[in-house]
Amino acid sequence: MTKNLETFFKPKTIAVVGASKDSRKIGHSALKNLLISDYQCKIYPINPKEESILGLKCYKKVTDVEGNIDLVLISVPAAIVPRILKDCKEKNVKNVIIISSGFSEIGNHDLENELKTIIKDSKMRVLGPNVMGYKNASIGLDASFVYGNPRKGSIALISQSGALGIGMIYIANNEYMGVSKIVGVGNKIDIDDDDLIDYFANDPETKVIGLYIEAVKDGREFMNAIKRCNKPVLVVKAGRSTAGARATASHTGSMAGSDNIYSAAIKQAGGIRCRDIVELFDMAKALNGQPPALGNRIGIVTNGGGLGIMLTDACEEQGLVIPKLSTKTFKKIDEILPNLIVPNNPIDVIADADFYRYETATRALLEDRNIDGVIVASVHGGYARPEEFTGAILKMIRERKLHEEFKKPILATWVGGREYEDLVLDLKSAGVPIYSSSWRTARAMLSLYLEGLRIKKDQKKKD
Ligand code: ACO
Repeated sequence: MTKNLETFFKPKTIAVVGASKDSRKIGHSALKNLLISDYQCKIYPINPKEESILGLKCYKKVTDVEGNIDLVLISVPAAIVPRILKDCKEKNVKNVIIISSGFSEIGNHDLENELKTIIKDSKMRVLGPNVMGYKNASIGLDASFVYGNPRKGSIALISQSGALGIGMIYIANNEYMGVSKIVGVGNKIDIDDDDLIDYFANDPETKVIGLYIEAVKDGREFMNAIKRCNKPVLVVKAGRSTAGARATASHTGSMAGSDNIYSAAIKQAGGIRCRDIVELFDMAKALNGQPPALGNRIGIVTNGGGLGIMLTDACEEQGLVIPKLSTKTFKKIDEILPNLIVPNNPIDVIADADFYRYETATRALLEDRNIDGVIVASVHGGYARPEEFTGAILKMIRERKLHEEFKKPILATWVGGREYEDLVLDLKSAGVPIYSSSWRTARAMLSLYLEGLRIKKDQKKKD
């Protein structure tokens, strides 16, 4: 069995077993998705009854295809899958995706074991069964049967749930976040989370890895893969409650396991556990575009005192600290604030704060050696102009020099209505990590701090 998934993600030849002319069938969608992909490769529909499907010559069996096949997608009823898999083995197919359901997730363990026996002594890599397939946005290849086109970017997503995987594509699109690859792993008879983490760790198109898991097959291998990985790994582990664990068993046929053990092990391995999918994207957004925080001391700039206090509470609850300003920073801020306001951390630049006040206060915090990361916050306070805030943020985030100079992250948060929302979309589309709640902002900052700790630990090991 090859560990390398290069031909899996960049196949030159792909066959679809169960390809159909019937547009309601999954085998039709899988073939069509390949055909409309930007990526160019040879495609072979396989169906014993048809001469051609969607304009392509059809073959009766994979063994009838001349030449090598790098990837086979199987979309036939579960009972036929072992026979098809044997054909693939005979043909020396390199990789297989079994879309079909009807295995351990419904208690059909014998049938799933039959598949495992077939692939045991082969080099073939198998994804599934019970999966959507994958989308490789880096090269424009859609090897799945589902809708949804992710933007090209640098977050790799692994989902044990196919439907949630599709949801993740849409969240990513809404948040203007690009994806490198998204993979559904289903029942994981072969290709497992650890294989994919290893692959993405070496994938130049991937900067951050996000997983939705219900259970892992080999806990030690999973944790070792996270430990080996030189990129941030974000994990949503579902099935925390007793009822959630029961639902896990009937979804992908897996055992949810002890939640506390998962939490401790993920942390120890250097991964970051997220509470849900939205948080996974919040953190991915921060980790993707910002430098890590090399300490836990956070500076806050806000035009609303209340928002500053909520951010302070949220940060401290996460183990981040909001230190007092140094004398030097105090003086710099004092110069830009109206007379009656005393500088503090959070720095309240007050409700009429303009572009200049935001920018100067943020820069002063970045320059402060006692500060490791900055949160810039704005509340639509009536006489503050939101453009002053968003304009300042855009300028600072776009000024890559600021990151190069200070190597500190900047996150943004806002409280407001419709008018603000439109401006925030502009920021999001420019890659600015901006959040609509103090809690989410603090959690995203925590992920940057944890990433800083991971990097330092790695560095220590190397020295
Ligand atoms: N080789 C090739 N094709 C074959 C063979 C064979 N040996 N035997 C039959 N076929 C053809 C069939 O004739 C049919 O083609 P046709 O439309 O021209 O007649 C085609 O293969 C499909 O077979 P059907 O019996 O029509 O099966 P159908 O498409 O209805 O269902 C499927 C197959 C989709 C795999 C179904 O059994 C299944 O598992 N569905 C659930 C899939 C799923 O949800 N997976 C998890 C995804 S994750 C998520 O939730 C997004």
